[in-house]
Amino acid sequence: MSTIPESQSLKPGANEANLWTRREFFGFAGWATFLGSIGMGLLAFLRFMFPRVLFEPSPLFKAGKVNDYKVGEVSERFKEDQRVWIERTDDKLIAIQAICTHLGCTPRWLALESKFKCPCHGSGFTKDGINFEGPAPRPLERLAIRLDDEANILVDRSKKFLYEKGQWEDPDSFITL
Ligand code: FES
Repeated sequence: MSTIPESQSLKPGANEANLWTRREFFGFAGWATFLGSIGMGLLAFLRFMFPRVLFEPSPLFKAGKVNDYKVGEVSERFKEDQRVWIERTDDKLIAIQAICTHLGCTPRWLALESKFKCPCHGSGFTKDGINFEGPAPRPLERLAIRLDDEANILVDRSKKFLYEKGQWEDPDSFITL
């Protein structure tokens, strides 16, 4: 019967130390998995509670006072920020949306030619916004405009008035001067 020499036998406690390490490792891994899954669940819950929502800027903006605009002027003051022209006629103030009714480019106001011209495909619109050349199928749109209690001009980009539907006669589409 062979016996393990004293020098090759495991030292007392060595095996236990190895087992303890393994036990520690699995214990640690178990806890890490457990805590990780709780963390992931918590993140998912927080994401659910705070969904990614796009907060759009208000469609309403102040456009100064009536006297900021000269009779006959098409003001480009709000074209960059709001895509809106403010136009003052003899008896009205109107807000025209600076969006081409063909494919949505931003037309330019050509004061010398007294027309709006779209740089994309060449549509032209009269000073009133009526399409008269190029592929644009209909006039430019007008926006709701009114005065507030302190005589500030308020333009509401969410409310549109279409010529082809006879909406330019709607009193909400202009300010009477
Ligand atoms: S987008 Fe203005 S003409 Fe085409």
